[in-house]
Amino acid sequence: MLAVKVPKEEAEMIRRKLLELGVLAKGYYIKREEDSVLFPVTEPVDGFEIVEEEFKRIERRPNSYRDIVEVPKEFKPLLPSSFDIIGDIAIVELPEELMPYGGAIGEAILKVHRHIKAVFAKGGKVSGQYRVRELIPLAGEKRTETLHRENGIRLKLDVARVYYTPRLATERMRVFEKTRPGEVILDMFAGAGPYSILLARKAKLVFAVDLNPWAIRYLEENICLNKASNVIPILGDVRKIAGRIRVDRAIMNLPKFADRFLKKAMLSVKHGGIIHYYGFGPEGGLYSEHEVKIKAIARELGLAVEFLDRRKVRPYAPRQFNVAIDFRVLG
Ligand SMILES: C[S@@+](CC[C@H](N)C(=O)[O-])C[C@H]1O[C@@H](n2cnc3c(N)ncnc32)[C@H](O)[C@@H]1O
Repeated sequence: MLAVKVPKEEAEMIRRKLLELGVLAKGYYIKREEDSVLFPVTEPVDGFEIVEEEFKRIERRPNSYRDIVEVPKEFKPLLPSSFDIIGDIAIVELPEELMPYGGAIGEAILKVHRHIKAVFAKGGKVSGQYRVRELIPLAGEKRTETLHRENGIRLKLDVARVYYTPRLATERMRVFEKTRPGEVILDMFAGAGPYSILLARKAKLVFAVDLNPWAIRYLEENICLNKASNVIPILGDVRKIAGRIRVDRAIMNLPKFADRFLKKAMLSVKHGGIIHYYGFGPEGGLYSEHEVKIKAIARELGLAVEFLDRRKVRPYAPRQFNVAIDFRVLG
């Protein structure tokens, strides 16, 4: 391509001039020789030495995998604009039509996000007692164990064996802010410990219960990793434990079935204790059904409840939200 060759000492001044004239070719590295500098130009420029030269292109890193992925044009609008990142693993939700291009999508994600080492597609809904889902490998390492950082804590977990979503990080921080120093807490559905380990920074003691042996295995590792020796991991059905201990605060992060555990939760908190209840609710009535149940169960137990806060946590499905209800139990 055409180039302007100038003495080294005048290079900066001439570069500005070429820019002003609008003839400096963009997207190329300039070339430096011993006494001179060569600028790529789009057309000959009067008053300068013009030579023919080859220039190396500046490779621009695309911002999104969608800029480089190769899928048929008609499917481009279906490409998800975001995906979950857990440690160095990406988990993407693909519509059926894009599944045949999963490999290309995975490779594009790896190319744009250099810290990601493995890409999986969601293979279905979260299901079963352990609340995990099938993951389909798309690209990179076929590894599902990773180390994730959230709210200043480190969480090691296997994304195929233990439930975890990074989308609750803000909600967990909210609960942390409401926690008072010295409290005793029951994390009824602890998973690998994102609530328990965080709250342990303020609490005196956290009982962290889960039914899934993999969750407890990682929770134990995370207790060591984060030096959270005030977290007591308990493997088993929380129904067998709740009601036998008395705590200041209970966390019920099992939105699909939390209502079935309300009685046990209320029997586990001291007079004035607080419960963080999670559920799903439709746009038109986010909280009402849950609040009715909470009041009914309290009445059955001869207790009273005081609602403290309620909020949309995140969208869950079309016109459905994951909601949180905080309430105090008075007995
Ligand atoms: C939605 S996950 C939440 C995990 C964790 N709190 C988090 O935020 O990542 C619910 C967890 O409850 C556990 N679980 C389900 N039924 C249970 C029960 N009856 N007793 C104890 N744990 C249970 C599952 O194994 C799963 O790890």
